[in-house]
Amino acid sequence: MKRRFDERLENYDLTDARSKLEYNRRLFAVVAGRYDAVTTVLSFGRDRSWKRYLVGSLPESGVHEALDIACGTGDLTLAVADRYAGARVVGADLAEEMLARARRNRRRWAAARPEHSASVSFETVRFETGDMSDLAYENGRFDLVTAGYAFRNAPDLSAALRSVFRVLRPRGTLAILDFSHAARPTAASLQIGLLRFWGRLWGKLLHDNPEVYGYIAESLRRFPSLPALEEQLREVGFRRVRSRTFFFGLIAVTFARK
Ligand SMILES: C[S@@+](CC[C@H](N)C(=O)[O-])C[C@H]1O[C@@H](n2cnc3c(N)ncnc32)[C@H](O)[C@@H]1O
Repeated sequence: MKRRFDERLENYDLTDARSKLEYNRRLFAVVAGRYDAVTTVLSFGRDRSWKRYLVGSLPESGVHEALDIACGTGDLTLAVADRYAGARVVGADLAEEMLARARRNRRRWAAARPEHSASVSFETVRFETGDMSDLAYENGRFDLVTAGYAFRNAPDLSAALRSVFRVLRPRGTLAILDFSHAARPTAASLQIGLLRFWGRLWGKLLHDNPEVYGYIAESLRRFPSLPALEEQLREVGFRRVRSRTFFFGLIAVTFARK
């Protein structure tokens, strides 16, 4: 069944933190039910392999506490929990509807791993409400922060990067997967134009509103190019910043250390 989304992007100001936060809250409440399937379709089935690359490139050891910001339905959160057996992993997201899906996925995940009892899995993997720009965790708590398609949605990117930096321990790792664009304006407008077409098509088909996934391109247009994002990470204090791009540069996986 089609779940309609009647909000108009023109009624929101994506350069205003409160307005962008509110748009995101409403958008993801509606797309939650189909998020996993739509992510597969929109990424031509590649999303899983990009996430596998991200998780496979993380440090071998030394991760006891991890945070997955904007965790959505929790696939990256659970992949991190698989990578570091026994680690405590928190998934934090703005939208309750996404968190409800994540908790359901965690039940399935726990059931498929009889070596963990469900109660242990629920203690070690938690899903909580949280705004990435204002994380309510103590300084230096996490060895690892992951961010799958997260920062593009940040109400205030600079505040979100500083917030993540604060909750990471010294030498802790940040790993980002997101849409990306080149610094050169011609290449960037081609990339964003393609994404705009593809997103709007699926928004129309699934929600009768091209803007639903057209938002991906709109948010990317306002997001720093990959070199600019890397520079911003360095300005916040991150070091050893490195990225790998996929899919004609439209996707980037970036790693940084505190
Ligand atoms: C595109 S989904 C990404 C979900 C998941 N991380 C993944 O890799 O598929 C973006 C998520 O960001 C969440 N979100 C948007 N704004 C947020 C904010 N300010 N703080 C935390 N989460 C936010 C949305 O609710 C949504 O679940």
